Order: sequence, then structure tokens, then C-alpha cells
Amino acid sequence: MTDPLFRPIAIGTLTLPNRVVMAPMGQGQAPGGQPDPGYAGFYRRRAEGEVGLIISGATAIGHPTAALDDYEPHFHGGALDEWARIVREVHEAGGRIVPQLGHAGLQGIAAAAPAWPGIGPSGIWLPGAQAGMPAGPERADGHAMTLDDIDEVIAAFVRAARDAQALGFDGIEVHAAHGFLIDQFLWTRTNRRADAYGGERARFAAEIVAACRAATGPDFPILMRLSQFKMTDYDATLADDPAGLEALLAPIADAGVDLFDCSQRRFWRAEFAGSPLNFAGWAKKLTGRPTIGGGGIGLEKTALEYGDDGIYARQAEAETSHLEELRARLDRGEFDLVSLGRAILGDPAWARKVRDGAAGTLQPYRPELLGTLA
Ligand SMILES: Cc1cc2nc3c(=O)[nH]c(=O)nc-3n(C[C@H](O)[C@H](O)[C@H](O)COP(=O)(O)O)c2cc1C
Repeated sequence: MTDPLFRPIAIGTLTLPNRVVMAPMGQGQAPGGQPDPGYAGFYRRRAEGEVGLIISGATAIGHPTAALDDYEPHFHGGALDEWARIVREVHEAGGRIVPQLGHAGLQGIAAAAPAWPGIGPSGIWLPGAQAGMPAGPERADGHAMTLDDIDEVIAAFVRAARDAQALGFDGIEVHAAHGFLIDQFLWTRTNRRADAYGGERARFAAEIVAACRAATGPDFPILMRLSQFKMTDYDATLADDPAGLEALLAPIADAGVDLFDCSQRRFWRAEFAGSPLNFAGWAKKLTGRPTIGGGGIGLEKTALEYGDDGIYARQAEAETSHLEELRARLDRGEFDLVSLGRAILGDPAWARKVRDGAAGTLQPYRPELLGTLA
């Protein structure tokens, strides 16, 4: 029987040779937004290692407050030449890549500087004491977006989507997860708007997707990344039950998303009581769209459960005990693809080694790898 991890799949016009996806992981090596020349080799090595699809780390669309910080790659202006080289190298190595397009909103570091107020649905931000801790007291010092601001951000997503298509990318991923701008619209604690964007919290996300779809045509793959949790609050949720999640996801799916990339910190955790389905499982069941699940794959279990287990966790030993669980869930059709973050930073050849029965030779993730573009 074929290993469910290595069955080909077609997502619209995008044909993938296997189910293994490189999760988006920012490496912060783009001073002033210009990607370091090392990014091309960083992604090329994962393509050579036969990962099915690469999702780039978050990039900033061409809007003045989009960037997370001064080291996040831009996806506009002069940075596009480097992205052209990246997509060429990945394709030469036989891979497929989509850029993750984002706007940091009030989570941008820049938003901390009084000279550059961050924007958000209501100008409200809950910074949290530290990464992953429960959200702290509200801060209301951001700028609440006007309807013109909303139109400008949508237009910036559309320009980036068009540029991605013109450069030959295999699609785009809209970053709507982890507490960044679009997620700030989806979350009740940051979206207090009295207008239609507050009444329908998914409206902004759906309008971005619809506008990117209209600009790129019916066949250009559009992915969207979503999460319940925030970078600043791992226990936060967008929805506490399936009906609430469906209300958020249905209009976004209808707007034209081909694939939902469901970010979860541990893929084996049930999302809602009464069912073993994880977040990706529920998103698939509720929308009928294919989904990517993942989180914690190939990382040492004990450390995940009891250690310093932030998404920038300090330790991880390669181990493969999650793979059987993962294969069983794929086989049942709970979700369709699996994303690997730190495991594929540790070993660019993860997919090839696991396919060839050489999982025992996987190189473990080490925190020292972060930012090295190794
Ligand atoms: C260094 C690093 C950078 C990350 N950057 C992003 C990002 O730019 N966009 C995003 O959606 N998630 C980002 N993530 C989250 C990962 O995509 C992934 O969801 C997370 O690492 C859990 O998967 P893992 O347990 O396989 O590492 C990042 C994670 C790491 C470790």
C-alpha cells in the first residue's frame, strides 16, 4: 500500500507529488526588506530534498505598515528581483513554491514606535506578557482602520498576488493567522468595529481573497493560513465550537480559497470536545476544501509536552513516533497535506529520507539553525 504521505494530489491546477509541505518560517534575513541572497539556496535545498510544496516565510506586502520588523522580506519593489531568482532556483530543482503574503497590523514591531502607529480593525492590541502567555491588558494606541485604509490594504494584497503570478510562483498564501492583521479582524478581542467589518468578522479576509482571485483568474492557487492561537496567546481562540468556526470559514471559502493551511501547535490535539478532529480536520469538514494540518511533527514528544514548548522551542530531537499517527489521519482523509516547520529546518531532505525508509538518519532541528539560512 502506498504511504499516504507520498500519494500525489491535485489542488486545482497545482499538482503535488506528495503531501509534505514546508511550513512558512520567517528567517529575518532581509535588512530593509531586501532578501539575503542566501534565501534562494535555503529554499532550493528543500526542493532538492523533494518536499511537495514550499511556503515561504511571511513577507510584507507593499503597504507602509505591513512589515513585522526591519528584517522581514518585502514582497514589493526592489525585493522582487530576489524573489524571481528564488522561484527560478526552486523550479530548477523540481520544486513548487508559494510566497506567504502578510500584513503585521498591530503586531508589527514597528507599531511599538510612536512615530509609526500600527493599524488594526479597532486600534486595540493585546500584547501579552511574552510569547505564548495569556494576552495582557489591552492597549488602544493603534490606529483604527478607516474604510480607505481597508481598501488600500486590499489593493496591496492584490498587487502582491499579481506580482507572484507574474514571477511564476505556483500560487500565493494569504497570512491570516497568528494575530497578524487579518487575524485581528477575525478575533473578537481585537475587532470591536460597529460597521460591516465588525458584524461579519470574516468580511475583510473574504474581500482580500475575492480581490486576489479576480486579479489572478480562476486557476491561480490561493491558500490561506489560519490559526486559533495568537503569537501572544497560545490559548486564544477565534471560535469555541464548530458552528462558530463555520460562520468564519464559509464566507472565506466561498470567496475562492483553494486550500486552507491550518496552523496548530500540535497536530494530534483535538480542536473541540467530543471529536478527535484537529483544526485542519474541522476546517475540511466545515468547508469541503482541502486542508493542511501539522504542528510538532518530528519533534521530541517529551520536550513538547513538558519543556519550553513555544514555537521557538529550545530543544528538539529527531524522532518519528508521530508519523504513524499522521499517516492514519491522512488515510482517513481528516486533512490532505502536512506541514513541517522545525523538522525541515533540521533536515532539508526530510521528505526524501522518510519516503526511502531512512527516517532514522534524519538530522534533528537545532535552535542554532534559526536565521542561518542553512
Ligand atoms: C523560526 C520560525 C519562523 C516562523 N515563521 C512563520 C511565518 O513567517 N509565518 C507563519 O505562518 N508561521 C511561522 N512559523 C510557524 C510555523 O509555520 C509552524 O506552524 C510552527 O513552527 C509549528 O510547526 P513545527 O512544530 O513543525 O515547527 C514560524 C516558526 C518558526 C520556528
